[in-house]
Amino acid sequence: MNLADRDGFIWQDGQMVDWREAKIHVLTHTLHYSMGVFEGVRAYETPNGTAIFRLQDHTKLPFDQATLEQAQIDVVRENKLASCYLRPIIFIGSEKLGIAATDNTIHATVAAWSWGAYLGDEAMAKGIRVKTSSFTHHHPNVTMCKAKASGNYTLSILAHQEVAHSGYDEAMLMDPQGYVCQGSGENVFLVKDGVLHTPDIAGGALDGITRQTIITIAKDMGIEVVERRITRDEFYIGDEAFFTGTAAEVTPIREYDDREIGSGARGPITEKIQKAFFDAVQGKDPKYAHWLTYVK
Ligand SMILES: Cc1ncc(COP(=O)(O)O)c(C=O)c1O
Repeated sequence: MNLADRDGFIWQDGQMVDWREAKIHVLTHTLHYSMGVFEGVRAYETPNGTAIFRLQDHTKLPFDQATLEQAQIDVVRENKLASCYLRPIIFIGSEKLGIAATDNTIHATVAAWSWGAYLGDEAMAKGIRVKTSSFTHHHPNVTMCKAKASGNYTLSILAHQEVAHSGYDEAMLMDPQGYVCQGSGENVFLVKDGVLHTPDIAGGALDGITRQTIITIAKDMGIEVVERRITRDEFYIGDEAFFTGTAAEVTPIREYDDREIGSGARGPITEKIQKAFFDAVQGKDPKYAHWLTYVK
């Protein structure tokens, strides 16, 4: 199905626009040079109605925060979505082209639609097969790795296409020093001897909100969490591994570079963390109620 051809409403520069009419001009600056920033946000069904997970944290974008937060609540409500994925994006208008065009107008849109498990339902239970990409992750001096900046995703797409072409589910990117950085759209965690390890963000990995969520949840469960440089072979001999992200949620990795990780299935600590994550986002754990914004 074509995502552009459906019923519903998209918030565009302050207005609710019919889904099929939410269009931009072909000379839109961001379309040419990818200078845009977006977020991925999810809303879940909870016992008290639909709630957006960590809305305020996801909305620290270069735009009026209150307006964008309300826009996200409104699109979920107007599209009558019980659970969904939301995509706010901020981009540069079409007044002038050329990289020196700094006075163009800035635009924002928010769309929301139902989107199930990013890497498939089976992946959540059984885990995925991951392969190191031959493309190196950006060095933090190459681009702004801490933003979900549109231009950064050429690399993600190249890496993903490369490994998907060979039959793998997802790519792992190494940082320029050769340490494990992140997936094409996910942060990564390793479990070894009961301790959780994740690459330190100085290597260029995104400071993902799901990454932060998992670090908090794991520590609250009494699991030690270490942020550091990790080599790929530590994953080869690790006990468990998983990806995290708003889209990917908590996706177990069962195989990396053609080697089974641990037992080659979702590990017990991954399963515990995955369950705690879903309890948090689905409003089943009062400890994390402050992360939920209800759509009324
Ligand atoms: C490259 C990359 N890393 C990590 C993440 C996970 O970030 P978050 O947990 O904030 O969704 C994303 C999500 O889009 C991403 O694109």
